[in-house]
Amino acid sequence: MSIKKIGVLGAGLMGAGIAQVAAASGYEVTIVEVSDELIKKGLSGIEKSLAKFAEKGTITAEQKGAAMARLRGTTKLEELAGADIIIEAIIENLQIKRDTYAKLDALCKPDTIFASNTSSLSITEMMTATSAERQRRFIGMHFFNPVPLMKLVEVIRTILTDEDVYAEAVALAESFGKTVVRAGDKTGFIVNRLLVPFMLDAIRTLEEGLASIEDIDNGMKLGCNHPMGPLTLTDFVGLDTTYYIANIMFDEFKEKRFAPPPLLKRMVQAGLYGRKSGRGFYDYSDPKNPKPMKLA
Ligand code: 3HC
Repeated sequence: MSIKKIGVLGAGLMGAGIAQVAAASGYEVTIVEVSDELIKKGLSGIEKSLAKFAEKGTITAEQKGAAMARLRGTTKLEELAGADIIIEAIIENLQIKRDTYAKLDALCKPDTIFASNTSSLSITEMMTATSAERQRRFIGMHFFNPVPLMKLVEVIRTILTDEDVYAEAVALAESFGKTVVRAGDKTGFIVNRLLVPFMLDAIRTLEEGLASIEDIDNGMKLGCNHPMGPLTLTDFVGLDTTYYIANIMFDEFKEKRFAPPPLLKRMVQAGLYGRKSGRGFYDYSDPKNPKPMKLA
C-alpha cells in the first residue's frame, strides 16, 4: 500500500478520533482546523483517549508517546499538499465541503485520495467540485463514534470511483484495525439507512405515549442486548445531528420512515441536543447518573 501520510480535515469528535487511530496505526498525520484553539482541543482529546488505553494496558506508554509524536496540527490547508489521502470530517454542510474540496484539488498532488467521513451527504455531489481525474480518486470513509472504540468503517464508492483507489481505502481502514463494509453512494449508506428509522421510531413510540424514556431504552438494551437504548443513543449522536440526517434522508427517499417526528424537531428548536448540550431525552447535570427528562 502506498499510503504513508494522512491529512485529516477537522479536529472535532470524529476528526480527532480518525487522526488518533491513524497515528496509533503508524501513519504520519496532519490535522487541519480553523483555529489554534480547536487544534489544541482536538489534540488534548486524543491524548486523554490514548491515556485511557495506556492505563488499561491496551497500549504501552511508549506507543502512546509515539502516536502523539506522529500527529501535527495546523491551520493551513496548504500543508496537506503532500498527503497521500485526506480524510475530511468537517461540518456537514455541502457548500462548505465543496468549496474546501475545490481548494484542496488545486493544491494537492494529482494522486492524493479524497475521502469524506460524511454520514448523510452525497459523495457524488461533493466530488463534482473537483477535476475529472480527482473524481476517480474520491470515496467515502464513514467512521463511527467513538472512533477509537468502534470497529466499523463504511467505505463508499461512487459510480466513478477507480477500483484501485477503492481497494487502497479498504486496506487503509483495515490497517487501522477496523472491519470494512462496502456500500454505494446512497444517503445513509448501510448503517444510518437502518439506524436512523430505528431511532426515529423510538421517538415516535415516546411521542405517542406507549412507554417511558427509560422503558423504551431498557426494552432494547435488555431485550436485544444493544449497548445503549435508542433514546440514549440519540442523545449520544446528538438530536441536532439526527434531525439533520433524517431530513436529508427524507429528501433523498421521500419515505415516511425517515421523516423526523415533531417531538424531535421541538427538542432541537428548544436547544435540547443531547449529551453535548447537557439535556436531551436525559438530563446530564450529573453525567454519571443521567435522569430522564419530563418532556410533556
Ligand atoms: N477512548 C478510549 N476509551 C474510551 C473512549 C474513548 N474515546 N470512550 C469510552 N472509553 C472507555 C471508557 O473509559 C470505559 O473504560 P472502562 O471500562 O475502563 O471504564 C469503556 O470505554 C467503556 O465506556 P463506558 O463505561 O463509558 O460505557 P459503555 O460500556 O457503554 O461503552 C460505548 C461506551 C463504547 C460508547 C458503548 O456504549 C457503545 O458501543 N454504544 C453505542 C455506540 C454507537 O452505536 N455508536 C454509533 C453511533 S452512530 C454513528 O456514529 C454514525 C453517525 O453517522 C450518526
